[in-house]
Amino acid sequence: MARTGTSPEPSQSGGEPPAPQHVAIIMDGNGRWAKARGLPRAAGHERGVEALRRTVEAAGDLGICYLTVFSFSTENWRRPAAEVNTLFALLKAYVQRDLARLKEDGVRVRVIGQRAGLPPDIAELVDRAERETAANSKFHLTIAFNYGSRNEILRAATAYARALAAGEVTADLTDEAFEAYLDTRDLPDPDLLIRTSGEYRISNFLLWQAAYAELLFVDVQWPDFNRDHLESAISRYHERERRFGAVAPGAT
Ligand code: FPP
Repeated sequence: MARTGTSPEPSQSGGEPPAPQHVAIIMDGNGRWAKARGLPRAAGHERGVEALRRTVEAAGDLGICYLTVFSFSTENWRRPAAEVNTLFALLKAYVQRDLARLKEDGVRVRVIGQRAGLPPDIAELVDRAERETAANSKFHLTIAFNYGSRNEILRAATAYARALAAGEVTADLTDEAFEAYLDTRDLPDPDLLIRTSGEYRISNFLLWQAAYAELLFVDVQWPDFNRDHLESAISRYHERERRFGAVAPGAT
């Protein structure tokens, strides 16, 4: 399902061009937001969850179908244990508090990343969130948690190698065949990848999937991110010309 990105062309009937189908966000700057206010880093992450709630709602209203957010990376284990525990507790609280509402609103929840590294209670909870929303298709919220793109690609390559050894697949690997082994196997590629906090990095997020994503780096710290920022990001996306390696129509 990967290569289905929309182009920011005006719709046939004129009017507003369509919103990007899939927006991915690196929610960065929680720590700096907290430090600037003399608060503990945990307070920044807590406000980050509120920004996530606002963004899910705004994304649905603005016509985005897929939202993928980076919540905890495979590299974030290097942080102090107390901060790691806070991030785990916040994921748990978010799912416990919001699952019923997400279900009711037609949101399909997925959690991508290495499930094996999660504490059993969190793994059970995310399994439940995925199971209970599996029939929803109005909006797709994907939370990357214990996720790292290199880790995902290595897990996919290992699974492919096992399938090859078992004679289930051939050695003639195609993009599509490989993508079936990625965590994002049933998601389209992101059209727009936003990173907040003014840093210009992708930080091991969706490296394969973002091959043709439009990249947008914004100065706002994640806890302050709101509907206006998302609308402005979509407007900036509409200014881009997406060519996917081809030439612009009419170019000589
Ligand atoms: C990066 O900011 C943010 C993270 C590592 C965590 C992102 C988490 C949330 C937005 C809240 C949790 C949401 C769920 C659903 C669990 P940073 O801490 O690296 O900020 P800094 O670069 O300013 O220090």
